[in-house]
Amino acid sequence: IKLESCTFALFGALGDLALRKLFPALYQLDRAGLLHDDTRILALAREAGEPQRHLAAIDQALRLHVPAKELEEGALARFQARLHYLTMDFLQADNYLALAELAGHDQLIAYFATPASVYGGICANLAAVGLAERCRVVLEKPIGHDLASSRAVNDAVAQVFAENRVYRIDHYLGKETVQNLIALRFANSLFETQWNQNHISHVEITVAEKVGIEGRWGYFDQAGQLRDMIQNHLLQLLCLIAMDPPSDLSADSIRDEKVKVLKALEPISAEQLGQRVVRGQYVAGSSDGRPVPGYLEEENSNTQSDTETFVALRADIRNWRWAGVPFYLRTGKRMPQKLSQIVIHFKAPPHYIFAPEQRQLIGNKLIIRLQPDEGIALQVLTKDQGLDKGMQLRSGPLQLSFSDTYRSARIPDAYERLLLEVMRGNQNLFVRKDEIEYAWQWCDQLIAGWKQLGEAPKPYTAGSWGPMASVALITRDGRSWYGDL
Ligand code: BG6
Repeated sequence: IKLESCTFALFGALGDLALRKLFPALYQLDRAGLLHDDTRILALAREAGEPQRHLAAIDQALRLHVPAKELEEGALARFQARLHYLTMDFLQADNYLALAELAGHDQLIAYFATPASVYGGICANLAAVGLAERCRVVLEKPIGHDLASSRAVNDAVAQVFAENRVYRIDHYLGKETVQNLIALRFANSLFETQWNQNHISHVEITVAEKVGIEGRWGYFDQAGQLRDMIQNHLLQLLCLIAMDPPSDLSADSIRDEKVKVLKALEPISAEQLGQRVVRGQYVAGSSDGRPVPGYLEEENSNTQSDTETFVALRADIRNWRWAGVPFYLRTGKRMPQKLSQIVIHFKAPPHYIFAPEQRQLIGNKLIIRLQPDEGIALQVLTKDQGLDKGMQLRSGPLQLSFSDTYRSARIPDAYERLLLEVMRGNQNLFVRKDEIEYAWQWCDQLIAGWKQLGEAPKPYTAGSWGPMASVALITRDGRSWYGDL
């Protein structure tokens, strides 16, 4: 598949996201031979000065962020030849004339890697120079910090662009294993027949990160882990696990089903917060054996901040499929390892015939590892081997490791997939306006409850799995977090 030619205009081209993720992803698409020969990439940023200097910075970023074995001089030179740098003030309409000239007459893709507060202004200016008609816009998160502010941004964009031209990024949807959730659930009748409250007892979703805040304090302290990770990535994962089968793979069929899940999420009132939600903030500890500072001691920190860097919560979905099946969500910075994993716990068989002391082994688990070591394992019970063992049970995995089984395939970065889909005009992996809004609505009531209670987040040592209260959250229901976590 070779794509049609387009002009890719990257607003905020010298920012961290562009340099670390977007240019490397575009380079990989080019290296794979997917970009049309005439496709051009316009790097737009406010920094003045010699374009050559800025292009050199982009080249340097590629050499830093693309793995050495994937850096090919020929491919780098071809990529550089597509690049043009333009100094722009995104809120000045007359600055868009030069852009219109450079953009030619192809399909235009405008990627906004800027603060959401300027999205509306960029859209209006694109329209003013006649670029809007042939343009798709890509919006990075965070889109607002609550329902009202996200509506304001989405409404400003909607003044110019119909929903079918708007691509809202949640980069988790671009991860191979996340897309695999759809294949796993709906291509295998084995799972789908079991996928409900008759057979599943509970679900765990963990997204743990080893990193701390590192230079992003200004943004993060305004947001916190609930807005930064739960509102988008974890709720999207929850939706993909919990949604009903869509009638086809079209973007709207899938998004309609996800919205139904978000609408069915039970609100958590201020009174229930103590039982159902745990907020944490890391204090000094260690990471890989070296000492690391606490959140309040990071560079440029506000030493009084009560922003959370960890959240664990129990979400319930009020519908036929999931009544009585808790979804335990957990995410934090400065955890012992980077790990994104979903564990589906199946119920015990209705009648138990084995030794009573082995009862706690009972119950299958489906473990979906999103990163690292992408793979799927189904934990099943078998008989322990040996004459001396009798009918002793043991639990072991039926395992599919993607890297072992499909050795040759390189797993593309999420942004490669997402940029490819924007160029194809496929909205499947992008978030619709109403999804974002229902997700905010649910998170807003949680945040309002926190405010009302005014409790500080619970401290946890950097390099640990979060506050003890997050263990209590799940043991209270007679369960535990899966594995050695
Ligand atoms: C981003 C968050 O959306 O996702 C970051 O803003 C977080 O705080 C990142 O570190 C995690 O992404 P990944 O792909 O490394 O799991």
